[in-house]
Amino acid sequence: GAEVVINGSSSPAVVDRSNETIKHNIQPASAKWRHNQTLSLRIRKQILKFLDAEKDISVLKGTLKPGDIIHYIFDRDSTMNVSQNLYELLPRTSPLKNKHFGTCAIVGNSGVLLNSGCGQEIDTHSFVIRCNLAPVQEYARDVGLKTDLVTMNPSVVQRAFEDLVNATWREKLLQRLHSLNGSILWIPAFMARGGKQRVEWVNELILKHHVNVRTAYPSLRLLHAVRGYWLTNKVHIKRPTTGLLMYTLATRFCSQIYLYGFWPFPLDQNQNPVKYHYYDSLKYGYTSQASPHTMPLEFKALKSLHEQGALKLTVGQCD
Ligand code: CTP
Repeated sequence: GAEVVINGSSSPAVVDRSNETIKHNIQPASAKWRHNQTLSLRIRKQILKFLDAEKDISVLKGTLKPGDIIHYIFDRDSTMNVSQNLYELLPRTSPLKNKHFGTCAIVGNSGVLLNSGCGQEIDTHSFVIRCNLAPVQEYARDVGLKTDLVTMNPSVVQRAFEDLVNATWREKLLQRLHSLNGSILWIPAFMARGGKQRVEWVNELILKHHVNVRTAYPSLRLLHAVRGYWLTNKVHIKRPTTGLLMYTLATRFCSQIYLYGFWPFPLDQNQNPVKYHYYDSLKYGYTSQASPHTMPLEFKALKSLHEQGALKLTVGQCD
């Protein structure tokens, strides 16, 4: 099978456990990297045994009705009622139905993107996925502008939009949503109870202002299915990050997958400091202590897939 060999790397990885810094030498280098189509197809097939991106990318209208009760995935004892607004925003058919793309970009949010000059390259891909409504306009040279799908954890409303405390913040979020201009907005609404109110606010804004986005709300089984796939391949992630979820989904509809902004380490390959996010001042402590994610472990798996030609990681400058 297409086992993800996470320890099979021949490149040096020096681990400094005091601050989780790992010096990863990404090999092969950009110019020498070759896509391994056989392996990509094998991975797609294997992932299909756990989930189907076409279905799991969103709950559909036909499967829920207003008033239905949903148990949060991470807070099983807490429930939410499907509101009228949520119901209205559920897609009738999968936004990925019968979709297929030659090359896709998944843009993570690491500060490694700053001064990368990768914007143009990112924008050449047929389908561009971004995470957590990260800003693009001010960083276009490094991150590009094209956005076909963008995720939004409910916590973004708090972190980047001050929980919409006043009209200014509401307007800011509204402008950001308007700028999505028809792309898919993917909101994990059923993960944790903390997001209840925030998801409702966003849904309300979208409906009230007729925002042109295609909303999608991941299926209740997606998280466990993704985790199951990686566990089967001996990657013991606690809770997959948005970035890993996106890669796992993308294998279904993208022939070649290019990753940018995946670098969960405070120093780059040349030992220069790297911001946790390219656009805010969130710190690394956040990943190791408060967060349930195991990003360095995920990174190791992605790096191994890069070495085998199943995906391409870019962690430095683009030509
Ligand atoms: N990422 C990374 N290195 C970083 C920051 C992010 O590799 N220094 C990748 C991760 O895969 C992450 C994705 O980029 O999921 C998007 O970043 P972020 O918005 O921080 O996502 P999450 O950590 O999933 O968000 P949250 O903690 O709100 O769940």
